[in-house]
Amino acid sequence: MFLLLIFQALSSQGYEQAVIYGNSEILGYYYVDIWVGTPSVLQTVIIDTGSRLTAFPCIGCESCGKHMDPYFDYKKSNTSRIIQCNEGISCTSCNSDTCGYSQSYSEGSSISGMLVEDIVMFGDDFAKAQKVRAVFGCHRKETYLFRTQQADGIMGFAQKKNNILTLVDVLYKDNKIDSNVFSICFGKEDGIMSIGGYNNSWHKGNISWTGYYDESFYAVKMDKLKLNETKIEVKSSDFSSQYTTGTIIDSGTTFTYLSSKIYTALYKDFEKFCEEKGRCDGKTTDVYGEAHDCYMYDYEKYADIADFFATFPTIKLGIESIEVEWKAKYYLFAWPETPDIFCVGVYSNGAGGNVFGGNFMRGQNVIHDRDNRKIGFAESNCTPEYPHNKSRSTIPYYIGQKTDISVFSVVFYSCGIMTMASLSILYILKKRSKSIQMTEENQEV
Ligand SMILES: *[C@@H]1O[C@H](CO)[C@@H](O)[C@H](O)[C@H]1NC(C)=O
Ligand SMILES: *[C@@H]1O[C@H](CO)[C@@H](O)[C@H](O)[C@H]1NC(C)=O
Ligand SMILES: *[C@@H]1O[C@H](CO)[C@@H](O)[C@H](O)[C@H]1NC(C)=O
Ligand SMILES: *[C@@H]1O[C@H](CO)[C@@H](O)[C@H](O)[C@H]1NC(C)=O
Ligand SMILES: *[C@@H]1O[C@H](CO)[C@@H](O)[C@H](O)[C@H]1NC(C)=O
Repeated sequence: MFLLLIFQALSSQGYEQAVIYGNSEILGYYYVDIWVGTPSVLQTVIIDTGSRLTAFPCIGCESCGKHMDPYFDYKKSNTSRIIQCNEGISCTSCNSDTCGYSQSYSEGSSISGMLVEDIVMFGDDFAKAQKVRAVFGCHRKETYLFRTQQADGIMGFAQKKNNILTLVDVLYKDNKIDSNVFSICFGKEDGIMSIGGYNNSWHKGNISWTGYYDESFYAVKMDKLKLNETKIEVKSSDFSSQYTTGTIIDSGTTFTYLSSKIYTALYKDFEKFCEEKGRCDGKTTDVYGEAHDCYMYDYEKYADIADFFATFPTIKLGIESIEVEWKAKYYLFAWPETPDIFCVGVYSNGAGGNVFGGNFMRGQNVIHDRDNRKIGFAESNCTPEYPHNKSRSTIPYYIGQKTDISVFSVVFYSCGIMTMASLSILYILKKRSKSIQMTEENQEV
């Protein structure tokens, strides 16, 4: 034990990396493992750059759903401590001197409970994974998606606004990591992330850097959109009509939502692009709940699906002086029950701003450099190296899950059949994707 402590002290600088699990299509989110308490127990948390709180259900929660892991039992952890009301941490409520929190998310779900401090460990390399004391939420109540999701909880990565620190803030404050940086690399399936630095060898090309301009969200100044080389017809001021920058990048939103003007212009030009013969080369199909055509993949015509994707335009985001490519293979997605039919994962956010969600982040390492207030994009396959002896296997998590636990597992079993059940799942998945207004102070996205 003593030797281990010395080793941890010596290796206190550097960066941590961890495998990301999840996808946009079946789960609608991506999550990582963290280890909490003494002895450490596993909790799985959704990666959300649009909120700050880290929270998961704790023992005694009567209105929490069933998740991958048992509820965290803070009473069994000899390093846990319940946060009291007078500690200078903002509490949303105060009950018999315990500090309560409550948070609602724009897709309609909410969580509430009490704040607890305990040791949290991030990183798959156990020998060097960093342990820090961090404050997190212990759910006493979960509603809607928080209740039905497989992952246990959520981990926020947004910037500091109130005095609850995110895991990145704590690791940096305690000098456990070199720099106030984290990177998120979502693959089509699973991915990899780092805290305290990033690894250039994940990248296929150079990093394109741009500034971000908000105190809590990762808000960038997008002022152009192109489909291959065709600029869509909107004024650059249309991008920022909703708030200062008009565009945020948010890993916790499943799909991408554009303010109505941009959305309408994008689809108009998308359809125009597709009119030419040989482009967007799939029979157009109506899919329930989709406002636009979806495209049938003909595997006899295109043995390699990459050739099918190549008939679609690349969406290119002009952000200040850089251009970030969003390839068809990532913005197109197939609902699990109709795996041959591909829809465009871009929806209207009405009067709200532009939110580029998890489906946009796929296929690139998105580096958040918080000291320099910049965000970098580098093309990557985001292929993780799975730790060999992890309890979590690489077998897709929906296999072997008890069907009564999770609505999402039903998707797998009803594959190919458009049943009423799967229709409601479609609806649930759509709801998971958050529609964001960015005006309500107390709301996280
Ligand atoms: C806490 O528990 C761990 C293992 O369960 C034990 O090694 C450690 O000594 C305990 N610490 C205290 C302060 O009781
Ligand atoms: C960076 O990633 C490569 C490839 O995944 C890996 O071999 C290397 O060890 C990583 N570097 C560090 C410092 O972790
Ligand atoms: C990366 O940057 C270097 C130096 O600016 C440049 O020479 C090279 O062409 C760039 N590579 C790519 C793939 O853009
Ligand atoms: C659009 O760009 C993609 C990739 O950049 C390419 O594969 C495709 O052929 C282009 N399509 C047209 C019609 O130019
Ligand atoms: C994985 O294996 C390494 C080396 O054998 C060991 O040190 C580590 O504790 C193991 N981790 C788990 C979670 O079993």
